[in-house]
Amino acid sequence: MLTRSVLRSATGPSCTVASLASKARISPLWASSAPQGQYKNPLCSAIPTGKRFVSAYGYTQSKALVYSKYGEPKDVLRLHKHSISPPHGTQVTLRLLAAPLNPADVNQIQGVYPSKPPFQTALGTEEPSAVAGNEGAFEVIATGSNVKNLAKGDWVVMKQTGQGTWRTHAQMDESQLIKIENKDGLSPLQISTVSVNPVTAYRMIKDFCDWDWMRAGEEWLIQNGANSGVGRAAIQLAREWGIKTLNVVRERETPEETEALKKELYDLGATAVVTESELLSGEFRNTVKELTRQGKEPIRLALNCVGGKSATALAKTLAPGSHLVTYGAMSKQPVALPSGLLIFKDLVFNGFWVSRWGDKHPELKESTIKDVLELTRLGKFKDIPVEYLKWTWDTEGSELAAGVQETLSGFRKGKGLLKYEGDE
Ligand SMILES: NC(=O)c1ccc[n+]([C@@H]2O[C@H](COP(=O)([O-])OP(=O)(O)OC[C@H]3O[C@@H](n4cnc5c(N)ncnc54)[C@H](OP(=O)(O)O)[C@@H]3O)[C@@H](O)[C@H]2O)c1
Repeated sequence: MLTRSVLRSATGPSCTVASLASKARISPLWASSAPQGQYKNPLCSAIPTGKRFVSAYGYTQSKALVYSKYGEPKDVLRLHKHSISPPHGTQVTLRLLAAPLNPADVNQIQGVYPSKPPFQTALGTEEPSAVAGNEGAFEVIATGSNVKNLAKGDWVVMKQTGQGTWRTHAQMDESQLIKIENKDGLSPLQISTVSVNPVTAYRMIKDFCDWDWMRAGEEWLIQNGANSGVGRAAIQLAREWGIKTLNVVRERETPEETEALKKELYDLGATAVVTESELLSGEFRNTVKELTRQGKEPIRLALNCVGGKSATALAKTLAPGSHLVTYGAMSKQPVALPSGLLIFKDLVFNGFWVSRWGDKHPELKESTIKDVLELTRLGKFKDIPVEYLKWTWDTEGSELAAGVQETLSGFRKGKGLLKYEGDE
């Protein structure tokens, strides 16, 4: 890991900004965007090439995982080094704390996700490129003179998806960021994973069903992918709100591993956990009857992130007039619905996309995040299991890209999480 070196001597011979950039082995982005000749040689003296530094003039070196064409992460992701000028106006310079590797991030890199960040040359990449990643926690390391609501040391998350979070440092306008008002007792892991999965679970449970709060503890939701980030959030929120949960997971290699996974979910407050083969078996009808006291406790909401037969089976358990909300398609199979469920049970099928919802309801998104963080602080919202992908200044791009690629395999022990361990 490299240490920060601050160049204090700025008294050497003058040189052009372009040559400064090449001496520092950095992209000439900041140089080319600056008026020629304006800079008085801050870097012309001995520059520790290949090393990171924050210059006495406040330039910060950064590395970003970028892609300039769509494909598999291992083939298209590469590390781009560039320099960030001191923030001005309402700009804020940020240092990455942690960023999750969510399925949607990978789909975006593959080019199969509906929202695609534009390819640009703003970071000085040879080809127009996008910075990967949508979610993450950052620390403010410098602020422009007109920044009102943020100060050095604050922690922030992105206001919207698509801002590019897989980078050691970034510069953004303060209006693009949500400040974590009280970060006491919270970890980078918790903050970096709060704005997508828990918000998705929260809104789907709150906004698609008129729960009868007088019947707390007598109504159910059912979900597949229950061990996912969203699934774990749904279990804990439902538990807090007096809603029972029937959770479906895929079998592991051994019965012991399946039981261990089920136990993880029971520990979060799941009411019942079944495997996908149990869900798809002829016996499942009876299991549901038993759990719901012959239907006296209705299953009023289904959350589907798998599709295919699994989604059909969830729908069949629902009480008349209930909603099935599809928010993911992990099996890549379409959702097929027996007509009877529409005709005779009047079920309603919805989709939910947190990116679009968040853009429409920015204030509600902020308050939802606040609610979840408050539950986290109170110990009522547990950390998701993660597999850390450590990122130091010297980590190779290929190593990071391989780590991202790995997240495509199923049956993982935890979500991939980039953890930046470089210093300021
Ligand atoms: N619409 C939205 O706004 C929104 C927001 C957040 C997430 N999502 C979507 O929700 C889903 C879960 O995301 P996440 O971040 O919570 O996931 P995650 O924590 O990364 O976990 C992935 C989940 O997908 C399951 N899975 C993987 N491959 C599968 C397959 N072929 N068939 C069935 N299940 C499979 C995994 O089960 P195993 O452990 O058994 O492999 C695990 O439960 C993704 O599809 C994601 O895109 C959508």
